[in-house]
Amino acid sequence: MNYSLLFLLLVPVTIHAENCAGCVASGKVWCVETSVCNTTAQGDCKTAINLSLNCPAPPQYGYDDEFMRAEIMTLTTAAQNENPQLCFNNQLPTMKLYKVTSVNCSDHYNDTTCVGYTAYDTKRKAIVMSFKGAHGDDQMKAIMEGIQKDGIQSVFSTTNGKVFKTIYDSFMLIWNGGMSQDVRHLKYKYPSYELWVNGHSLGAMLAYVASAYVVDIALYKPDDMKVVVMGASRIGDYNFAVWHTATFSYNFHIVHRDDPFPRSIKVDPKTLTPLFYPRTEVWYDNYMNAGDPYQICPESDGQYCSNLDKNTPIMDDHLYYFNIDLPAWGHAGCPDNITAYAQQ
Ligand SMILES: *[C@@H]1O[C@H](CO)[C@@H](O)[C@H](O)[C@H]1NC(C)=O
Ligand SMILES: *[C@@H]1O[C@H](CO)[C@@H](O)[C@H](O)[C@H]1NC(C)=O
Ligand SMILES: *[C@@H]1O[C@H](CO)[C@@H](O)[C@H](O)[C@H]1NC(C)=O
Ligand SMILES: *[C@@H]1O[C@H](CO)[C@@H](O)[C@H](O)[C@H]1NC(C)=O
Ligand SMILES: *[C@@H]1O[C@H](CO)[C@@H](O)[C@H](O)[C@H]1NC(C)=O
Repeated sequence: MNYSLLFLLLVPVTIHAENCAGCVASGKVWCVETSVCNTTAQGDCKTAINLSLNCPAPPQYGYDDEFMRAEIMTLTTAAQNENPQLCFNNQLPTMKLYKVTSVNCSDHYNDTTCVGYTAYDTKRKAIVMSFKGAHGDDQMKAIMEGIQKDGIQSVFSTTNGKVFKTIYDSFMLIWNGGMSQDVRHLKYKYPSYELWVNGHSLGAMLAYVASAYVVDIALYKPDDMKVVVMGASRIGDYNFAVWHTATFSYNFHIVHRDDPFPRSIKVDPKTLTPLFYPRTEVWYDNYMNAGDPYQICPESDGQYCSNLDKNTPIMDDHLYYFNIDLPAWGHAGCPDNITAYAQQ
């Protein structure tokens, strides 16, 4: 008997049992700081993990503050302007608007348009799908009513994960209202380009659905996509978060300090099913000025990063990202001088 061979065979098994995924799969709790797997989290454990979704993993792509600040912030903000090209002209001159799709996304409220646009950039070799946030009381009421009435449902074929039906329906109105043709046209014209999907607030929830949808219908491969949202609310259950995390390797949720939206919806109000974010949250516990620190959350969604924050939520922290009043700057066409739009 070759004992050294036996030893080699046994070692990986032991290591496997003593990692986070193996630990939580056996119904136990993994402590990140001590690498101890036990039946309950010990009192001195700061980061306890009991779901495999939350087993620490760094993002597969590096987070680039400068790219988010200069490019994604502009793309997301441009959705606020009826003519997103004004924002591109000021900030990203090679970006060209393709089309804006604006639809009435409520069956009884008056002031409820859901808006998305497509754009393309021959320098960046990217096609953009971006979604506007909610505006006004009617739209907020319409979203909350839809969430309560329809809850989460299974709408995709490649995952049994569930998402808010009302957000899916709103996305489908935009998609069938023109965006489908626009994305297909741009993909035909620029087949090798990446697809960048982004949005803020309601636009972030729509972007989550949009990213899942274009992969679900096999229009894009997830590895050719960049998904970046800001100030999103949770839209889906555990299985959706697991699927979205495993599917999109370039996948960031940027959260500003005490933004109330990322903390607002924790369960599906209809079924009380807990909801989860896909990975990777990036939390700025400051004004998000250039050079400010940020935390890249290795866990997905639980008592980690911004969820640990005990401060009172600040509505302005939802509107200001990268220290710019996102709706106001967008309405103004994203001028270079941001002094009038700064929070601080
Ligand atoms: C596991 O937990 C038990 C009590 O819950 C404790 O007595 C024991 O020391 C823990 N083991 C480790 C390795 O922390
Ligand atoms: C998992 O941990 C969280 C706290 O991080 C706790 O609220 C939850 O009850 C735990 N779930 C289980 C099944 O132990
Ligand atoms: C929509 O507008 C009409 C006419 O202004 C008004 O009568 C109605 O109450 C409004 N509906 C809602 C839901 O605000
Ligand atoms: C949206 O449609 C509903 C139902 O048809 C209608 O009551 C509402 O006025 C419409 N809103 C707009 C902005 O067209
Ligand atoms: C930028 O805007 C601020 C406030 O609107 C204004 O006071 C300032 O003069 C502007 N700076 C430049 C360089 O135009």
